Amino acid sequence: MLNMRISDFAQQANDFSLAVAYDFSKNNGEALYKAAVEAGMDMNGRILMVDKAGIVQVDSFSLLNGMRLTHSEVQEVLTQGKDFAYGFHKVNTGEEDIWCLNCVSAISQDTEALGAVVLVQSVQDIMQMVHDIQWSYYVIYFLVMLVLLVLLSLLIDYLLKALGSLKAGTEAIAQGDFSRRMKVEGRDELATLAEAFNVMAQRLEDVDRSRSEFIANASHELKTPLTSMKILTESILYEDGMDENVYKEFLGDIDQEIDRMTAMINDLLLMTRLQNIDESRMYMEKASLASMVDGVVKKLQPIAEQKWISVYQHIQFEGTIDCLGVHLRHAISNLVENAIKYTGEGGRVDITILREGSMAVVRVKDTGEGIAKKEQEKIFERFYRVSKSRTRETGGTGLGLHIVQTVALLHNGHIAVESEEGKGSTFILSIPVNADKERSKYEK
Ligand SMILES: Nc1ncnc2c1ncn2[C@@H]1O[C@H](COP(=O)(O)OP(=O)(O)OP(=O)(O)O)[C@@H](O)[C@H]1O
Ligand SMILES: [Mg+2]
Repeated sequence: MLNMRISDFAQQANDFSLAVAYDFSKNNGEALYKAAVEAGMDMNGRILMVDKAGIVQVDSFSLLNGMRLTHSEVQEVLTQGKDFAYGFHKVNTGEEDIWCLNCVSAISQDTEALGAVVLVQSVQDIMQMVHDIQWSYYVIYFLVMLVLLVLLSLLIDYLLKALGSLKAGTEAIAQGDFSRRMKVEGRDELATLAEAFNVMAQRLEDVDRSRSEFIANASHELKTPLTSMKILTESILYEDGMDENVYKEFLGDIDQEIDRMTAMINDLLLMTRLQNIDESRMYMEKASLASMVDGVVKKLQPIAEQKWISVYQHIQFEGTIDCLGVHLRHAISNLVENAIKYTGEGGRVDITILREGSMAVVRVKDTGEGIAKKEQEKIFERFYRVSKSRTRETGGTGLGLHIVQTVALLHNGHIAVESEEGKGSTFILSIPVNADKERSKYEK
């Protein structure tokens, strides 16, 4: 806008200097003054004409005649040979300071410089506008900064609050309170962090609960044989003149309880050992499932014979697999032992070894009592027995299938059950034939 005013004004100064060049060369003061007053009124400004020395020859306001103008723009035109120059000046009108624009145009005739025309016009309106814009700019800048500051402090407040509750939660967990959870709000990084925290807290809570349950169950299971042993020994100790047969029967019962306790402690130790195996350093050997199953059957044959149970082996896969031999044999033994244990006299047990894709499968099928649908998912839990009184006679503690499951998972395999009450059960243990292939599949 200011530039437009300058170029407009420059044009007028140039036109005027051309128009008065002749009269100026002739020093025609009267004509020059008239022209200056007229043009000054037209453009709502003041017109001055100076000679080569900068002395005012004509002033449309008739105030500065004979005075020397020293403004730099006048000097630029008079001494540096420029055709045009301009400058801004603050002028005191007596009442107020106003901003004026001086446009200086050379007066020349036949390329000879005679002097210059100085057009003076108020640009106070533009300056006022610039001033106002500058002010609004400051106000907007201030407001934007204020809003930014408020937003920043809100953000910091939000972050500090979130971190504070995360800290409180972590401290609570460090002190053993695993029930603590964080509020998950929004979908930002903090929400992800809160979610991760909650998952961690949930896992810790699960581990803690399962540890307490385990200790409670193990203590209970160990207490039961101890209690019956205590009753039996007290009977022997305090009952005078006990019949030798009864006495021997009691000792036999104590012996059975000791066997039960030993088996249970062995299973507990085995479970701890299995849980502590470092899978990345686990040494896998090549072993034949067929010979493993054959060994198990030979060992358990006498128990099966006691109940007139026939055990059949169907070997459809003869190859070797990568495994932890001792543990896998133990797992198979647990399955076959259960099949015999939970099958009535005269029943049969069929063990099939086959290959299904990359997996070697051991199926142990019996014609026993079967397992109800709702019990099927629970039987793999530690200490879980379908009927406590029933298994009390059979002497189990409910760790057998949990050990089978732990061994299956250690091999990246799995265990499943198909069963119908009264008709029998089939346990299906699947183990990868090649451990490395299976592991790299999991690591991907
Ligand atoms: N083949 C089967 N037929 C019917 N019920 C079974 C069979 N195998 C397991 N069960 C049920 O599942 C329960 C859990 O089995 P698991 O082998 O874990 O424990 P257990 O045999 O009672 O004791 P142990 O720790 O001595 O093996 C058993 O108590 C039994 O009720
Ligand atoms: Mg068992």
